[in-house]
Amino acid sequence: MMKRALSDRVQMMGAVDWNRRLFDSLIPLPEGTSYNSYLVKGSEKTALIDTADPSLAHILMRQLEDVERIDYIISLHTEQDHSGLIPRLLQMYPGARVVCSTKAKELLMDHLHLDESVLDAMDDGSALSLGDRSFTFIHTPWVHWPETMCAYLEEEKILFSCDFFGSHLATTDMFAGEDPLIYEGAKRYFAEIMMPFRSIVKTNMKKVEAYDISMIAPSHGPVYDKPAFIMDAYRDWTSDRVENSVVIPYISMHGSTEMMVDRLLASLVERGVKVRKYDLSVTDIGKLAIDLVDAATVVIATPTVHFGPHPVVYSATHLANALRPKVKFAAIIGSYGWGTKAVEQISGLIPNLKVEVLGTVMCKGLPREDDLKALDDLAEAIAAKHASLGL
Ligand code: FEO
Repeated sequence: MMKRALSDRVQMMGAVDWNRRLFDSLIPLPEGTSYNSYLVKGSEKTALIDTADPSLAHILMRQLEDVERIDYIISLHTEQDHSGLIPRLLQMYPGARVVCSTKAKELLMDHLHLDESVLDAMDDGSALSLGDRSFTFIHTPWVHWPETMCAYLEEEKILFSCDFFGSHLATTDMFAGEDPLIYEGAKRYFAEIMMPFRSIVKTNMKKVEAYDISMIAPSHGPVYDKPAFIMDAYRDWTSDRVENSVVIPYISMHGSTEMMVDRLLASLVERGVKVRKYDLSVTDIGKLAIDLVDAATVVIATPTVHFGPHPVVYSATHLANALRPKVKFAAIIGSYGWGTKAVEQISGLIPNLKVEVLGTVMCKGLPREDDLKALDDLAEAIAAKHASLGL
């Protein structure tokens, strides 16, 4: 992709990564991703905001072929998908200053081995003039790392937000509009990256809401030409609102656990509760993460392997705990051959979930009628709790 004009003075650059399917060797990217950088020209100085993932360096280098001078490389976030090409750019543009947040200074020295002498650390609320264009830097910690900041281009009212408001999406669309596909990509991004810091994200939202914003230009995914589209979504995702829904991640080895999941699902649906079940042996854990953004209840379902939960369930439970969703209720169901400690072990894996545990149902072998009845009772308890929240 070639660079494209966002305005007379701002060009959108960077690379679309159509084929990437995994981020951080963990996060599925079914729609690929992009690494946006932005060239901003003032009457006196030129700045480049963020770079691109080093794996696609050749694309950014081609876009920079006719850019003779860069005075400032603004690093909004130290993770290497945005900062990784800074050392190369410093060789291409000797004398350029690397502008970052105060907390980013040390991280850039650690992760990229930048010399301290090239770094200009900016305090929260400080400004940088390019002549007839100027930035205000807004510290927005934990979207995604503790050092992250946004840059607000005063004269054009553009908020450059890096990971904040981003979406993992490979597309030729420059603008997001109100595209549901971009909403889904942004929600996936929020779930996997931002949800653990939900309350801090809320605080950061308040900080950026104080600015008059015409566009939000993130470093992943399209630019939000209708900022309310993504800001309203973030207000919802960071709120305490939950849906009348239950998410059931599960594994079944010989059918008993799935039989239990299906009985619970049917029983919940009869009571007006929406259910999403995820077979973890085939599911995209990003979809599970998306559904954890809104669900009122999570039910973890596992067979027993060596007296504990199935290792895949163990891993997904660990991840769900790390993502800190706002679920209110939880339950554990599953099966075993002759003995189990699965409930105790799963319970110990979810200290971050501030949930009321509504019950456990573990059955030996194939579920019998009393096991199925216990699942109906669990469904009744879940539905009643949801009703008590007005759902
Ligand atoms: Fe897109 Fe946290 O890096």
